[in-house]
Amino acid sequence: MAVGDSDKQEGSAARGDRETSAARAAYEGSADAGAANGRADASQGDRPLVELDHVDKYFGTLHVLKDISLSVSTGEVLVIIGPSGSGKSTLCRTINRLESIDSGEIRIDGEPLPQEGRQLTRLRAEVGMVFQSFNLFSHKTILENVTLAPRKVRGISVSQAKREGMDLLARVGVDSQSGKLPSQLSGGQQQRVAIARSLAMHPKVMLFDEPTSALDPEMINEVLDVMVKLANEGMTMIVVTHEMGFARQAADRVVFMADGEILEEGTPEEFFDHTKTDRAKDFLGKILAH
Ligand SMILES: Nc1ncnc2c1ncn2[C@@H]1O[C@H](COP(=O)(O)OP(=O)(O)OP(=O)(O)O)[C@@H](O)[C@H]1O
Ligand SMILES: [Mg+2]
Repeated sequence: MAVGDSDKQEGSAARGDRETSAARAAYEGSADAGAANGRADASQGDRPLVELDHVDKYFGTLHVLKDISLSVSTGEVLVIIGPSGSGKSTLCRTINRLESIDSGEIRIDGEPLPQEGRQLTRLRAEVGMVFQSFNLFSHKTILENVTLAPRKVRGISVSQAKREGMDLLARVGVDSQSGKLPSQLSGGQQQRVAIARSLAMHPKVMLFDEPTSALDPEMINEVLDVMVKLANEGMTMIVVTHEMGFARQAADRVVFMADGEILEEGTPEEFFDHTKTDRAKDFLGKILAH
């Protein structure tokens, strides 16, 4: 799947529901092929890489994660969907310890999450995270954005970091932009740089929290394409998204959350074509009506 390196596209005139639907439709169109998703080895990895065991999390009196147990195998792509405020971001943030938990346990590759210190830094390197906002360093070039952390945390040389950085930028289709500043790139290009920056740490698992929801519609697919490619290469991924076409195409498993609980869990086909709970049916009805 080609990953375009489109020039910066201006113009809010192109924005609009119609375009959003068109961008989605491109993914919906490939949904059938995606149901089986062609990744023969995915989801068959039996080694759990990320495990949440009866996790509870409160913000004050608000119970945001309610007895969450979830296991993600090596090479698996898990898509988390659910209404606003259901705890999807909080769940992601607890996995790389941006948020603490109140009870239960989270393990990465069999190791319980460390509380603090050097071990925590190492863990964060193992768990890559891509947010809705790209959070690139605005005064650093694209290549510097990708080489900074590996040089510091992985301790590799400048030349090795540059070599690896350029390879990663090529993988996400923005190597020709390496000398520019983030503000000179389109949103889609910046998000692809953010993905390359996470990959530069050689993470065991990648978390994506609504990576395309801040993008203009015409740039959504270029980011989804990179994510599909990563999935096909065997990356273990946890993805919070409203892009149902992507979920159908790339997910091995879909989890539906509402009010801090996991209400449904199954293959994309089970979830989308044989939705069980009224809550999920209602949610899908609203999303797909767009
Ligand atoms: N730092 C915080 N302090 C207090 N409450 C918070 C904090 N972060 C999130 N919450 C609350 O926790 C609940 C879950 O929030 P979260 O951001 O995880 O939901 P979400 O499913 O990601 O929603 P969205 O789809 O809007 O991104 C919400 O009620 C939210 O208001
Ligand atoms: Mg969120």
